[in-house]
Order: sequence, then structure tokens, then C-alpha cells
Amino acid sequence: MPDVGDIASRLRASGSVFAEDEAALLVAEARTPDELESMIGQRVAGLPLEVIVGWAEFCGRRIVVEPGVFVPRRRTEVVVREAVAAGRTGAVVLDLCCGTGAVGAAIHAALGGVELYASDVEPAAVRCACRNLEPLGGLVFEGDLYETLPASLRGRVDLLVVNAPYVPSDAIALMPPEAREHEPHVTLDGGADGVDIQRRVAAGAAEWLAPGGHMLIETSVAQAPLTVDAFREGGLTPEVRRADDVDGTVVIGGHAR
Ligand SMILES: C[S@@+](CC[C@H](N)C(=O)[O-])C[C@H]1O[C@@H](n2cnc3c(N)ncnc32)[C@H](O)[C@@H]1O
Repeated sequence: MPDVGDIASRLRASGSVFAEDEAALLVAEARTPDELESMIGQRVAGLPLEVIVGWAEFCGRRIVVEPGVFVPRRRTEVVVREAVAAGRTGAVVLDLCCGTGAVGAAIHAALGGVELYASDVEPAAVRCACRNLEPLGGLVFEGDLYETLPASLRGRVDLLVVNAPYVPSDAIALMPPEAREHEPHVTLDGGADGVDIQRRVAAGAAEWLAPGGHMLIETSVAQAPLTVDAFREGGLTPEVRRADDVDGTVVIGGHAR
């Protein structure tokens, strides 16, 4: 196997910030020198490290990541923390816009078992989420937001957890190439102000939430006021919560009384 230092130099030259760590991970994951060389080539070409090795760490767990699926981000751990604080073992959890299903999987682990449902519009995400969630007893649906969910879930969801795309369309061009070139726009694009999909989620939430249930939507500090408005328009009472350690922001709310 080539030297980790040499690999790190090649990665650094291609723009990698954490070149040493990445080189060590690729060496640990590659089964043959040919596979290692191929992995280095993919990384130099800008493919996200998590897609190359096939997994990401999220809330201390390994989550399967496949090509074309959004890589779970550390900041999204704030959604898990707040959901766990509001939840209980056996809660009905719906991970909407689930991507890999990382959020649902982490809540399931932290609460010691939940009734888990997830959905995403992208077939690649649905396939990946099935790999992560079916072993936990989760059911994954393909479709636009609530469209293909079983009607029997209406009024039963205790925790509706959502990391929908929220990048304003014009800001996608400013994202790092890793995201803008290797994650499909449908995973990023939240429309003109970034909140289009959140508004649609919030507009439909009340009929799926159980009495006393909570919806949690990840957002940014700048967009939080717009997310809050979306909750209110959907008949929910919102509160903004922030976790500085992961730079995460989430709006949480339930039925207005
Ligand atoms: C920012 S990614 C988040 C994925 C995952 N929740 C996470 O935190 O890692 C947004 C996800 O929403 C999905 N999505 C976008 N528009 C959607 C829609 N109209 N209905 C369902 N899912 C949608 C995308 O395919 C993508 O997987």
C-alpha cells in the first residue's frame, strides 16, 4: 500500500482540508492497492469521502451512503437531540425528506425503539434509506412529501422530523463543489428564499401529527424567521432551538391550542 503521507499530499493538492485524516480512512477502507488508487482518484475528482467509502458517521452511528444521496451533516444532529428530548420509546416517527434515513435511524437508537416511517422523492435516497431503516423495522415510501404515506398514519405521528432542502436557489452556485456537483439539486434547492418545501411540509403537517405531537424542521439562523412563519401558517406553535457545538438550528412546534 502507498504511504499515507504521499496520499495526503495528493489529496491536499486537490483541495482537501483534512487530507491526513482522509488518507488514513481511505487506507483503512481499501481492500486492495487497486481499490485504494481508485478511491484516491475519486476523491481527487471531488466525490464526497462518505460516498467513496459508502458510509457516514452520524450521531455516533455508521449510516450507509450511496451515490446521488445527500450526505448527512453534523449540524442535523440538533434535530435528533430535540426530537429525542420531546419523544419516548415506542413513539411514531416520520422522517420526511429522509435521504439516507440518518435522522430516523439515530432517533430509533436514542429512544430505544420507535415505530419508524420515512419518505423521499428520489429513488436513490429511498433505496439507501431502505438499507438503513428496514433492519430497524422502518418502512420507507417513495413520493412527494406525504403523497404515498399510508392514510392510517394520519393523526398518529408523534415526531415529524424534517431536513428538507433549504438552500435558496441562487446560493447553490456558492456551495462547495462537493455538494454542488455531486449532490443532486433536488436535495439542496429550497426555491427562491429556500423555504418553499418547508412551507409545503408545514401546510400539511397538522393532519399527520398526533395530539401532543411535534414537528421539527432543520433551518439556518438567517432563515429561521421564515420557517417560524411556515409553522404558524400551518397552525403550529413554533420555537427556535439552536446547538452551537454542531452549528445547527431547528424549529420545533406542535398543534396550536
Ligand atoms: C437536505 S437533504 C436531507 C436528507 C436527510 N434528511 C438528511 O438530513 O441527511 C433533503 C432530502 O429531501 C428530498 N426531497 C426533496 N424534495 C422532496 C419532496 N418534494 N418530497 C420528498 N422528498 C424530497 C431530497 O431527495 C433529499 O433526500
